[in-house]
Amino acid sequence: MFAPQPIGFVRTPYQNTTSIPRGLGAKHEAEGIIEILPEFDLGLTDIEGFSHLYVLWVFDRAGEFQLIGAPPTDSRPHGVFATRSPRRPNPIGLTVVELLRRDGALLYVRGVDMLDRTPVLDIKPYLSSVPSETLRRGWLAEVEARNK
Ligand SMILES: C[S@@+](CC[C@H](N)C(=O)[O-])C[C@H]1O[C@@H](n2cnc3c(N)ncnc32)[C@H](O)[C@@H]1O
Repeated sequence: MFAPQPIGFVRTPYQNTTSIPRGLGAKHEAEGIIEILPEFDLGLTDIEGFSHLYVLWVFDRAGEFQLIGAPPTDSRPHGVFATRSPRRPNPIGLTVVELLRRDGALLYVRGVDMLDRTPVLDIKPYLSSVPSETLRRGWLAEVEARNK
C-alpha cells in the first residue's frame, strides 16, 4: 500500500454539507477551483485539451463508515458499495467535473459536490466508453420509476 497525500485542494461554495444539492434529480452545476500544489503542477501539462475530468478526493469530514445505510434518494437501505455514501471504509470521493479553464496551477471547474478545502488525491481525463444503452442503474432506476 501507499500513504495517500493530497496533490491539492478544491475551493467550492460549500461550507457545510446541507448546502450541497442532494437527492433525486440533484444538479451539480456549482463552480470551483482546484488548486494544485507547486510540487505537482508540472503534472497538469496538456490537461487543457480535456473537457471533463475525474477528480478523486477525500471525504475528510465524514463520520465512521457504515456498510449498510439509506441514501437520501431512497428510504430503503443499501450496501455502501452500491451507493455514493461519504461514510465508506476508504473515504474516497469521485466526481466528474467540466474543465472550464486552467490558469497555471489552478483548474477552474464546474460540477463540484464537495466541501470547501477538500483534499484532492488525483485527477484523470474523463473518457466515457460505456454506451448509455448498456448501462444499468440498479436500485436507483427503481427509485426513479417509483417517483415518476
Ligand atoms: C453523495 S457524496 C458523492 C460524492 C462524489 N460525487 C462521489 O460519488 O464519490 C456527496 C456528499 O458528500 C458530502 N461531502 C462533500 N464533501 C465532503 C467532505 N470533504 N467530507 C465529508 N463529506 C463530504 C456532502 O454531504 C455531499 O452532499
